[in-house]
Amino acid sequence: MKEALKNLVDIISDRRTIKPDQYSGAVLDDSLIQKILEQANWAPTHGYTEPWRFVVYKGAALERLGEFLANFNQGDPEAPDFNKIRYNRIKSRPSMASHVIGIAMLPGTNPKIPEIEEVSAVAMAVQNMWLTCHAMGLGAYWSTGKAAFSDEFCEFMGFDKQYKSLGLFYIGATEKNNPPGRRISNIDTKVRWES
Ligand SMILES: Cc1cc2nc3c(=O)[nH]c(=O)nc-3n(C[C@H](O)[C@H](O)[C@H](O)COP(=O)(O)O)c2cc1C
Repeated sequence: MKEALKNLVDIISDRRTIKPDQYSGAVLDDSLIQKILEQANWAPTHGYTEPWRFVVYKGAALERLGEFLANFNQGDPEAPDFNKIRYNRIKSRPSMASHVIGIAMLPGTNPKIPEIEEVSAVAMAVQNMWLTCHAMGLGAYWSTGKAAFSDEFCEFMGFDKQYKSLGLFYIGATEKNNPPGRRISNIDTKVRWES
């Protein structure tokens, strides 16, 4: 196999979801994050729509993000079912990362390009970031869920209603090797060849 192909295959197949509790706590230089974001911008799009928008949270902003997520997920501390342990766990999670990137999509105005294409393009941009993180030896993780897709989170990121939020991308240094990957079924079970 040519070396470039081998490297690419390894980067794709060895990339893993590495969650914040696996990060070392080291704060990464912003220039690394900038490099990661620049790779996102190379994602392909239909019609050069480039619909990805990002907000980078670092330092004290990670605490504000944690507070937003904890309040959104756990609600009123006065409520009888309030779970303080879970609240604190959610609140502290962003601060375990070096940087967290809020992901949003700005749909274009071209009626020939449906939203599904714009979401697909943003996902490609996130994959570019994820692979770049892995190639840099960093841990990374795309987190979604109820809060991530909410109007409230979009507003928290400073985006108005025309944007769609698509979650959070956590980045942190990690001293551990990536764990082995797991797929439920082989590619052959998901492909039909016709000739
Ligand atoms: C669009 C998207 C959203 C995801 N959201 C979550 C999430 O909210 N929580 C989570 O634990 N993992 C989330 N993941 C990570 C997946 O769980 C993970 O990619 C999967 O388990 C495969 O593991 P691997 O990335 O190490 O190969 C998400 C992945 C993608 C692509």
